[in-house]
Amino acid sequence: MIYPTILAGGSGTRLWPLSRKMFPKQFLSFSSERTMLQETLTRLDGLDAAEVMMICSEEHRFIAAEQLRQMGHLDHNIILEPIGKNTAPAIAVAAMKAMQSNSDAVLLVMAADHVIDDCSEFHRAISAAEALANDGYLVTFGVVPTAPETGYGYIRRGDSLSIDAFRVADFVEKPDLETAECYLEGGEHYWNSGMFMFKASRYLEELREYSPEIYSACDAAFQNINEDLDFVRIGADEFSRCPSDSIDYAVMEKTNSAVVVPMSAGWSDVGSWSALWEIGEKDSFGNVVSGDVILEQSSDTYVYSESQLVATLGVNDLVIVQTKDAILVADKGKVQDVKHLVARIKDGG
Ligand code: GDD
Ligand code: MG
Repeated sequence: MIYPTILAGGSGTRLWPLSRKMFPKQFLSFSSERTMLQETLTRLDGLDAAEVMMICSEEHRFIAAEQLRQMGHLDHNIILEPIGKNTAPAIAVAAMKAMQSNSDAVLLVMAADHVIDDCSEFHRAISAAEALANDGYLVTFGVVPTAPETGYGYIRRGDSLSIDAFRVADFVEKPDLETAECYLEGGEHYWNSGMFMFKASRYLEELREYSPEIYSACDAAFQNINEDLDFVRIGADEFSRCPSDSIDYAVMEKTNSAVVVPMSAGWSDVGSWSALWEIGEKDSFGNVVSGDVILEQSSDTYVYSESQLVATLGVNDLVIVQTKDAILVADKGKVQDVKHLVARIKDGG
């Protein structure tokens, strides 16, 4: 039995102005009537899994609970972080929680904001990974890269372990562009999909070895756990002293127990507006639109309209997003930098 663990504490700033601090992208829907979190839950249907655990920020607790309830998840465990410390501590706390009910628990860690088209391939990869996780490995899921993206982790495959898996020879989180281009050309690397499978106990052992300060702070926060009917809270003072780091840097780059299961399930990290354009349904000029939109002599453009008619004439490769209180007009090639705009808005311009 696996313990699905959904990480939903990210801020999704590159999808501003739709994704906001109080309502980040994992709680929004883009190309389905279900939100990204709900799509993630739906993907678990058919697996032999315990009730889902979710870890998110205290300030999103009611949105999270409501979205789980809508999907019929009533006995969930929603673990609340008093402050975001990135994914290594979030997963540590979830691992400790799972071990309360089963000391051999295998976690399936998933991001709440990914798209996966081929659910049966996803399930195949999970059953291959489960066997490896039970053997004590830390399993990653590798996606064949199609561009030198610098926002991903890269996994170099080592020796073959079985027909479904390789040892990880190297794990490099977010390389620079030049390095990413080399990896792409070399053909030996996968993108890290950001999903993981391992025994909770093995993750905690590796965390304790390679990032002992994170381990101790999470352990201390977990001693002060406080559960009511709906939410699981951890010690705020202890957790606020935890160093902030992602699982990728804190554990995956360092461990000797990592393996990779290649997966071709139409995975996409919908990290930016151009990613939404990539996966969206295009008209014959390559435009993707949502809402009340008219396009004339325009191509390869993404337009999202929340509440007003948006019309374009003679434009190419743009992203235009209209919401009630903000409008974004951006070059489609520059949308990774939307986060810089958001930082300026937070600073008051
Ligand atoms: N609970 C909680 N707390 N969740 C968090 C936190 C936190 O402090 N920070 C991030 N998350 C959630 C996000 O909501 C997302 O679902 C997931 O954890 C991954 O965080 P991101 O911030 O989106 O990571 P990333 O996209 O930069 O990089 C990771 O994913 C890539 C693939 O999408 C890494 O694992 C990369 O190696 C990987 O390629
Ligand atoms: Mg991400």
